[in-house]
Amino acid sequence: MADAAESHGGGNEPQRVLEFYSGIGGMRYSLIRAGVKAQVVEAFEINDRANDVYEHNFGHRPYQGNIQCLTAADLDGYGADAWLLSPPCQPYTRQGLQKDTGDARAFSFLQILELMPFLLKPPSLLFVENVVGFEVCQLGLTHKTNFVTQEFILSPLQFGIPYSRPRYFCLAKRKPYSFVNEIWNRQLIQSPGPLYEHFDTAFIEDDLSQEDRHKLLQSCQPIESFLELKNPSNNIEAESATLGKGDDNVCDSLQQYYVPLSLVERWGSAMDVVYPDSKRCCCFTKSYYRYVKGTGSLLATVQPEKRDKASLKEQCLRYFTPREVANIHSFPEDFKFPDHISLKQRYALLGNSLSIAVVAPLLQYLFANPQ
Ligand SMILES: C[S@@+](CC[C@H](N)C(=O)[O-])C[C@H]1O[C@@H](n2cnc3c(N)ncnc32)[C@H](O)[C@@H]1O
Repeated sequence: MADAAESHGGGNEPQRVLEFYSGIGGMRYSLIRAGVKAQVVEAFEINDRANDVYEHNFGHRPYQGNIQCLTAADLDGYGADAWLLSPPCQPYTRQGLQKDTGDARAFSFLQILELMPFLLKPPSLLFVENVVGFEVCQLGLTHKTNFVTQEFILSPLQFGIPYSRPRYFCLAKRKPYSFVNEIWNRQLIQSPGPLYEHFDTAFIEDDLSQEDRHKLLQSCQPIESFLELKNPSNNIEAESATLGKGDDNVCDSLQQYYVPLSLVERWGSAMDVVYPDSKRCCCFTKSYYRYVKGTGSLLATVQPEKRDKASLKEQCLRYFTPREVANIHSFPEDFKFPDHISLKQRYALLGNSLSIAVVAPLLQYLFANPQ
């Protein structure tokens, strides 16, 4: 058992929270950032590497097992007020062939929803994070149980972070609890506006004019603010010195971050290349660093004055380091990997995680009580 957050809102007792599919703890960091008065009473995760990282940072090792095996009695035993869930996304993505609920990987999540009507003490609040296309989740909740939902599709770009990672979120409250802005009940919302009190009009990002879209991007911080290695490619000594200060040995060779020219030659046209002054980069997936196509952006580290004339091979492309991906996912500075987690494992765990800058305000909204 461990404290999750500072005080926020209502009663004296902290809300008891269960964190399902806890990974490296993105949800728990979001809860802390949201400042809600809550206590994570248990986390559940099947991957032991992820649990090593979670334990390293929170001093508590999640329950290491298959969520599918949890019974209603197990869940009742925790007496939780809120369940936070970020189930694996493969069944719902295009790569997963959208087999949806027929896919074995979806079973654990479905199982949890199926148990809900049999619980003696069901949670009052539910929060589900997943890829866009997961919207079916809301049906399961409202048809069989007594929940009212509000659904969101949001991206870090809408929160000032130069990162495109649109995700689907389902927020649910068990009646008679209700949302601060009830007008959005049973709606799919694509703007952060309703998260803020008394907001009763929302714009849909798809409807944005070119000018508004441009404004949205310009309001983001530049990529540069998220880099641990800030020098252009000719200053390898200075960069290596920066890395040398780190406390882990896996990431101390700068060379390993540069993209081999053979890959640039073969896959160059499919690469998403960004610059330190860019205001946007693409979603980092769990396959970043293993594959270059569609797994996340690459950073051009050519000197700015040479940028325009340089060919792609001369742009000195490198991968974002795991620390930089963590920064872009808004993980706090004190988040660390234990030394034994390999570089590929770090990228895989981060790619599976979530944007704390997006989830924190959603949790704050979910936990808020209407006045
Ligand atoms: C999308 S990730 C969530 C990551 C997490 N939110 C974070 O911040 O790192 C899904 C996680 O669920 C875990 N998982 C998948 N199926 C599971 C199951 N049946 N039981 C327990 N954990 C499972 C995976 O190992 C993975 O870490």
